[in-house]
Amino acid sequence: MLKQSIDQDKIMTIERHIFDEQQSHPEATGVLTSLLYDIALAGKVIASQTSRGGLAEILGKTGTTNIQGEEVMKLDDLADRMIYRLNDHTGRLAVMASEEREDILPVSPGYPLGKYVLLYDPLDGSSNIDYNVSIGTIFAIYNRKSEGGPGTLEDCLQKGRSLVASGYLVYGASTMLVYTSGMGVHGFTLDPIVGEFLLTHPYIRIPEVPKYYSVNQGYERYWSEGISRFTKYLQGDEADLDGTFRKGLSLRYIGSMVADFHRNLLGGGVFYYPADSKDPRYTSGKLRLAYESAPMAFITEQAGGTSSNGSQNILDLQPDSLHQRTPLFIGNRELVEKAEAFIRKYDKQEK
Ligand code: AHG
Ligand code: MN
Ligand code: MN
Repeated sequence: MLKQSIDQDKIMTIERHIFDEQQSHPEATGVLTSLLYDIALAGKVIASQTSRGGLAEILGKTGTTNIQGEEVMKLDDLADRMIYRLNDHTGRLAVMASEEREDILPVSPGYPLGKYVLLYDPLDGSSNIDYNVSIGTIFAIYNRKSEGGPGTLEDCLQKGRSLVASGYLVYGASTMLVYTSGMGVHGFTLDPIVGEFLLTHPYIRIPEVPKYYSVNQGYERYWSEGISRFTKYLQGDEADLDGTFRKGLSLRYIGSMVADFHRNLLGGGVFYYPADSKDPRYTSGKLRLAYESAPMAFITEQAGGTSSNGSQNILDLQPDSLHQRTPLFIGNRELVEKAEAFIRKYDKQEK
């Protein structure tokens, strides 16, 4: 186990950190280290593109050709292709899957196959791109289950409990990479001049006392009674099930799950995207289980928090399809368990 007492005066690059962490696994071959580093590299490239976001207006609008006569790609597509292209030839992966592609993504013909599976949301919060608001990338890494040959859909449909590593990049005022491989959660900040991710947040723990709740309250009229009452409880306006009131929390909602999650991870709180009783697209919530909710759930658990779909731990859910959605409650354990209790009391009773 990497020592808790990392010498914080030492400058630690992400490469060094991942390498040291993997050294504590005697069976480690270095492949995971390299894979995580490839993802960090993809993150650097995406950060450089997202930070130039507005310049597309000058160089050419998406869907048109720019002044060099090249087609200007949507940033989601660009990020999607970048992650795929940086990983398809390395021999570390058996198969990939992306939010932007309906089917699984086989390794390109002619390249060697590896033992890992990579699922990703190339750009999360993409409705914010045009407004210069923080966005992110989410990744999930599993061991392949199939014996050999190209990876399969079943390799991509694993419970979060089987995650080998997961993490996210947040493209905010600075670019950060936060990941876990089951030995705590570690955050790195990109030094844009040097081009390296440096360890700035070792062993992140969600603060015990929460500050924030994060939900799109504009949809309140579509919520169940349990969700509405839970939200009022968080505001300090509704009694707990034992009759006591809590001090109200502040509301923060960006609309980029990665950014909302990141703030609550560091500041303490709960993020939720519940089921929507009116919009038929979102009766199971909006967020995807395999490449949005499960990887964040692993990070949360490693940071001392928990996650739920309202009744079950996200990490225990078996995805049936690649793009399956789930209601998500994630953050401080006490608040996630409270959400479950309100749902149990008000939404699950026999009617
Ligand atoms: P994506 O951009 O990858 O499709 O994800 C968007 C998600 C998530 O980032 C965010 O929490 C949520 O959509 C915001 O949805 P609302 O605008 O409905 O609040
Ligand atoms: Mn997303
Ligand atoms: Mn996305």
